Amino acid sequence: MNMQQNVLEKIQQLDKLETVHLQNAVIGLAELATEEAQAHTDPQQQRLFLQHWYGNDPGYFWLIFNKVRSRAPRESVWSKYGLLQLLKGPASEYIQWGMISHEPKEAIELLREYFNTLVHNATNEHRFLLVRFLWESRNEGIKSNISENWLKKADPGLKRSLGQNFNELSKHLENLFHVWKAQVEADTEEATSAFEKVDLSLPGVHRPIGSHHLIRQVFQEIEDIFVSIGFSVVEGPEIETPYYNFEALNIPEFHAVRDDMDTFYLELPKGAATPLLLRTHTSPMQIRTMEKQKPPVRVIVPGKVYRRDNPDATHSFAFHQIEGLAVDTDITFCDFTGTIEYFVKQFFGPSVKTRFRPSYFPFTEPSVEFDVSCPFCGGTGTAAAGGTCTKCKGAAWIELFGAGMVDPAVYGFVNYDAKKVSGFAFGIGIDRLAMLKYGIDDIQVFFQNDVRFLRQFP
Ligand code: DAH
Repeated sequence: MNMQQNVLEKIQQLDKLETVHLQNAVIGLAELATEEAQAHTDPQQQRLFLQHWYGNDPGYFWLIFNKVRSRAPRESVWSKYGLLQLLKGPASEYIQWGMISHEPKEAIELLREYFNTLVHNATNEHRFLLVRFLWESRNEGIKSNISENWLKKADPGLKRSLGQNFNELSKHLENLFHVWKAQVEADTEEATSAFEKVDLSLPGVHRPIGSHHLIRQVFQEIEDIFVSIGFSVVEGPEIETPYYNFEALNIPEFHAVRDDMDTFYLELPKGAATPLLLRTHTSPMQIRTMEKQKPPVRVIVPGKVYRRDNPDATHSFAFHQIEGLAVDTDITFCDFTGTIEYFVKQFFGPSVKTRFRPSYFPFTEPSVEFDVSCPFCGGTGTAAAGGTCTKCKGAAWIELFGAGMVDPAVYGFVNYDAKKVSGFAFGIGIDRLAMLKYGIDDIQVFFQNDVRFLRQFP
């Protein structure tokens, strides 16, 4: 009883030890086990001892095994060594007896008993592997230990029966290991298939499906309208050269309109061929398109543009435009206004009216600003519930976008014959249009990507 308490106490203390001291403590316990194995001379007592240490009751060895394994990595040499010492003690003791007593049968019986107890209590693979290692390992193993120290040195008269007993034990253990392994494999398989079983009656995992951002939806709406009347959709780079963003659009270096647009230049290595900037409008794609193709040209260009605007309810440093360009040999101002009117009616509904006012852009001549009769108050300036219409602020008209007939100077940059071709261009601010149509009063919500906002436009 005293002995048992002593052992249990030592096992509890393992928890408090620093890892570096664990190995010595385990080896100390291994010595205790060996001492106890030596102390019992009666086979009955030996069996009790084996149960205490290596069986279930209380299973000192397995308690120690768990503690060591939770503190040391599985591969750790010292933990394996310490544990092996713990296991080896009694087995070496039995071998010793067999050698001394010249009555090896009993010793082999005890060894068999010992390994039976170990295998039956090796309830997981790691325990099992250690037990098998104890038996089979080439240098440390009990098997080689028996044949080296016991069989080879046995009296010639004993050798035969001893060898027979040993072979039996060997077979028995191999069989035990084999059965155990098959059992473990079957268990894991069963556990895996139970785990993988699918219950089709359970409700499925709900994965919310995303939707297009409102800006993309408006792009799509506008693209559809223009595609239906023969335009194609092209896209261009967001990083541009000043040539495409300005010069080729008839905006020379010291032109006043650059004040609005001289904005985000990229930091380039010294000696770069040309400065680069984030495009301030989609108009550079007019040039790129005409450079690539001969008339007739009918394209729209959706995309992002960048300006050094301070963010507020109607300004953002990044926003969206759709550029439009139609060039052919016989395009008139009538085609131009007809196309725009068609688009506006498709977008806002057939009852809206359009008008244009003179304006100025360096790349169009004449230039205009298109307005639409306020679709919210029916162009009256008065809200349905009385009072001023908040959308057009009582003006009855809403400013939509800039446009015009392509300035002949622009054709000069793309090798079009200004005497033979004519065309129109327009640049629609998408964010403003989306805000108008969907009653949104702050442009910033387009960039904040708050799902509570996005969800409203599935
Ligand atoms: N690029 C102009 C801007 O961003 C908009 C514009 C005006 C585009 C007239 C055009 C146009 O194609 O004809 O302010």
